[in-house]
Amino acid sequence: MSNIEIKQALFDELKNSFEYSILMMRYDSAIREVKTKLEILNNELSLTSEESPIASIHARRKKDVSIFNKLIRQENEISLSGIEENLNDVAGIRVICPFIDDIYNVVDMLTAQDDISVIQIKDYIKNPKPNGYRSYHMIVEVPVFFSNEKKPMRCEVQIRTVGMNFWASLEHQIKYKHDIEDDVDEIMNQLKHCADTIAETDKSMLQLRNRIKGSK
Ligand code: GTP
Ligand code: MG
Repeated sequence: MSNIEIKQALFDELKNSFEYSILMMRYDSAIREVKTKLEILNNELSLTSEESPIASIHARRKKDVSIFNKLIRQENEISLSGIEENLNDVAGIRVICPFIDDIYNVVDMLTAQDDISVIQIKDYIKNPKPNGYRSYHMIVEVPVFFSNEKKPMRCEVQIRTVGMNFWASLEHQIKYKHDIEDDVDEIMNQLKHCADTIAETDKSMLQLRNRIKGSK
């Protein structure tokens, strides 16, 4: 058996274990905890300000095959602790906001809650990726209460505007499973140009909203 076949067999065994099901159930619970917090904030603000800072929330747990691939890619141990200690995005929540300042308001409100610990922040809005990708990424830890223990669980929260999500979804679709063979630079430039145009539009829409709000 090759090295990768041994690791695959190890993972298959792990994946079928009761302990793995428990861990995945814990990630599902963490997703629900964080999603509920976001929904409560949105409900409250929709009532008090008549504006919803959140347009939609999408949650997903990383698929087994993606967990395996990431463990291999990062050369982590194929074990439960290998997953828990190294993969911060098994539980993932994507929050789509109408305007850029909604993103920072949501971040401030969520991180102010005393049971949320911020593990890592990557602000790809202030510092876009070279390809033009923009989004606010946070790894948070939330305690989840079970029958006889309290477990802090990690969750990746990506927060972006409708515009940023439009670009990221299409960029993902364009690139997914396709190797760009020619005109790579040209295509990358055009994608970056689209991202920058959307970012300008996001700024203009925010300015317009503030102008209209100010004149009320
Ligand atoms: P992963 O190993 O993919 O999780 O990346 P990372 O640990 O370096 O984290 P990073 O914060 O850069 O990216 C995490 C996630 O953000 C990715 O899994 C994607 O969902 C999203 N993302 C990051 N960069 C891009 C990008 O260029 N395009 C798109 N469409 N999504 C991106
Ligand atoms: Mg990821």
